[in-house]
Amino acid sequence: MPAVGIASGGRSKEYAGELTRYVMVTCIIAAMGGLIFGYDIGISGGVTSMDSFLNKFFPSVYRKKELDKSTNQYCQYDSQTLTMFTSSLYLAALMASIVAATVTRKFGRKLSMFFGGVLFCSGAIINGAASAVWMLILGRILLGFGIGFSNQSVPLYLSEMAPSKFRGALNIGFQLSITLGILAANLLNYFFAKIKGGWGWRLSLGGAMVPALIITVGSLILPDTPNSMIERGQHEEAETQLRRIRGVDDVSEEFNDLVIASDESKKIEDPWRNLLQRKYRPQLCMAILIPFFQQLTGINVIMFYAPVLFNTIGFGSDASLISAVITGLVNVAATIVSMYGVDKWGRRKLFLEGGTQMLICQIVVAACIGAKFGLDGNADNLPKWYAIVVVVFICTYVAGFAWSWGPLGWLVPSEIFPLEIRSAAQSVNVSVNMIFTFIVAQVFLTMLCHLKFGLFIFFAFFVCVMSVFVYLFLPETKGIPIEEMSRVWKQHWYWKRFVTDEDYPNDGYEMSKPTIVNIV
Ligand code: BGC
Repeated sequence: MPAVGIASGGRSKEYAGELTRYVMVTCIIAAMGGLIFGYDIGISGGVTSMDSFLNKFFPSVYRKKELDKSTNQYCQYDSQTLTMFTSSLYLAALMASIVAATVTRKFGRKLSMFFGGVLFCSGAIINGAASAVWMLILGRILLGFGIGFSNQSVPLYLSEMAPSKFRGALNIGFQLSITLGILAANLLNYFFAKIKGGWGWRLSLGGAMVPALIITVGSLILPDTPNSMIERGQHEEAETQLRRIRGVDDVSEEFNDLVIASDESKKIEDPWRNLLQRKYRPQLCMAILIPFFQQLTGINVIMFYAPVLFNTIGFGSDASLISAVITGLVNVAATIVSMYGVDKWGRRKLFLEGGTQMLICQIVVAACIGAKFGLDGNADNLPKWYAIVVVVFICTYVAGFAWSWGPLGWLVPSEIFPLEIRSAAQSVNVSVNMIFTFIVAQVFLTMLCHLKFGLFIFFAFFVCVMSVFVYLFLPETKGIPIEEMSRVWKQHWYWKRFVTDEDYPNDGYEMSKPTIVNIV
């Protein structure tokens, strides 16, 4: 992988150049890749709570829900085909991201983004026109391929384009565009569900074409990153491009560093085997546990199924969709808080505060639902105050996630991997995230049916475990230059046993000669 920064003798240095308008515009366009991911996360729940959609594709679920009013509320949506509709996408995304790694490296980030947009767009067309369940699933697989390609290339593109001092904010910018996508989808679901004739779901699903076209066209007009150009031997074009994006004439220092880093990264033959070395044990653990924990917060239960969930606990269809819009708004707002605070308050504080907040909310929500529905899942008319309490606590839970595990689940892994294992470790991170997104999406409705309100206690247990984990095992990474990050492991009470002085001489700096910094 190419480099974007370099440090000499352990000191980080800054390159000439600013955050130019040109780079801002290219990054905003590129971040639209997050929008398609978010749109998809938000759309499925709303659509699967639309009666006309259920009746057409999942009539047995619809009948169970509509006709048999005495049915246990916890189980009314329990259907493997219905969950397959939501979660098929994540397996497809997982597979595509592995293929995309090669396309991105060999042919540039733009081509992966382009594939992402085109595949996503075809999935949206098939879904919008669907007349059978197989078309829905095929459409979602194509959407998943699209997401796999764009999620692989977009964060890479952003990090390579951004001047290093704005890299953190741009990282969370990608998460912000995910949350905006979720919100847009929730709003559209709300309006489309009202369309008479019950075909609004076609607009919700087909609407995914809009962000897809933006990223497709965007990928055609966006410039390639200098890093990618150098990687493919186009040195002259890369230097011209670097001048343009940094807005200064003399970019030789950064340019030379990019060339050195590119040469260095080409020497690494087997990053996967590297990853297994004892000295990388802390990073490997984080690459697996951070995305695992992020998904075990249970956030996607809310993101995918908020309307279904609100419906289950007694809200009408309309109120359910409004509540989903409210949680979407909270998600965006709290992500902005995180962008503002992450470099002031540090990662650990946000993780621990967010974890405590989520834990309290999950316990309260479990208690509310348990008190009303008990074990048999039947409840009479629900009082208004009860509905308000549940929504307030679900929103507070979403806010807790959105300024902690949401953005940090992507940011922290991206800043702790040293160059020689960065691309491999990042693949592990993305794959674990997709697998557990899939698992949570696939088993949630069945778990709700069996664990009942205990489902929230199940996630609360994991939130407790992950907070203790952060407290004990995650060092603070705020303000530490990426190339000096090994120092935090060497000084950590537990991880220091895996990292010896020989691994990192010079007091934790990774190399004594100029240190190559690579951002993925
Ligand atoms: C997670 C997604 C989640 C989203 C919610 C992301 O960081 O990876 O799984 O749906 O946040 O905003």
